[in-house]
Amino acid sequence: MRVRRSLIDLDDLTAEELAYVFERTAQFEREAPGPLLAGIACVNMFFEESTRTFTSFNLAELRLGADVINLSPENLSLAVKGETLEDTAITLGAMGVCVLVVRHSEPGFSQRVALAFDGHVVNAGDGSHAHPTQALLDIYTLVEEWGDVRGRSVAIVGDVLHSRVAHSTMHGLLRLGCSVVLVGPECFLPASYAREGVRVERDLDAVLPEVDAALLLRIQRERLSDMPISDAQYVEAYRLDGRRLALARKDAVVMHPGPYNRGMELDDAVLAFAGWRYASQVRHGVGVRMAVLDLLVNGR
Ligand code: NCD
Repeated sequence: MRVRRSLIDLDDLTAEELAYVFERTAQFEREAPGPLLAGIACVNMFFEESTRTFTSFNLAELRLGADVINLSPENLSLAVKGETLEDTAITLGAMGVCVLVVRHSEPGFSQRVALAFDGHVVNAGDGSHAHPTQALLDIYTLVEEWGDVRGRSVAIVGDVLHSRVAHSTMHGLLRLGCSVVLVGPECFLPASYAREGVRVERDLDAVLPEVDAALLLRIQRERLSDMPISDAQYVEAYRLDGRRLALARKDAVVMHPGPYNRGMELDDAVLAFAGWRYASQVRHGVGVRMAVLDLLVNGR
């Protein structure tokens, strides 16, 4: 079986390909790309809830003229009839399905699909491991803002440990020469993260004045059996609100991958802040995913 190009995490892309994805994203956002995926069957398999990622992959595929099929877990023989992942991949490949977009709660699940499937696999989130297209759209949002992320500094705040977004975005930013400060309580941010070439800080108030951007994270309650910190303690130390925003630089950028919980990691003052870029992130999600699908299927 020929192993086709997949995107499991950002390190599957060379520096040149990363630049190319951003170039194509800008181009596809300016003008409709045309049917670059005409006749290409894409199957979206989301075993975990998704609003943004699911919709934007669908839109990206439709705008590129692909044939789009959404398989929900309850309709998959994999889940209810005991068919293995490997046999599911063989079955879909035999029908000529070319692209599988996969979200699952198990780290490494998309990689397992990629090893069994004769086509392209895009990881739309595997447990707390990786979420490469979210990282691409986060970084693209910052590149649009600044021209380049090199020499800038970004704080990633909250439940880093369980966040696939934090893991992929952090590595992407470091690769592009941006410094990263991780901020959170020990239970969501073990000190061992400092080995990854990032700074680990506990005091958000001390970090806010020095960074160019803050990426806020949702507490991934679905990956926790018990909440290791009370909501009140978390809010007290880490919620971005009007008082904390006053500590940030006037031109600071604030982002969140969504879904955000008002009152928990942020409050309404953040949604009214001039540097709040959530809508741009979501918008770029469609362009970035078109660029990734085009690169994997058609090459450069
Ligand atoms: C994130 C995810 O699912 O990993 N959301 C997203 O894809 N935009 C983050 C989250 O669920 O908190």
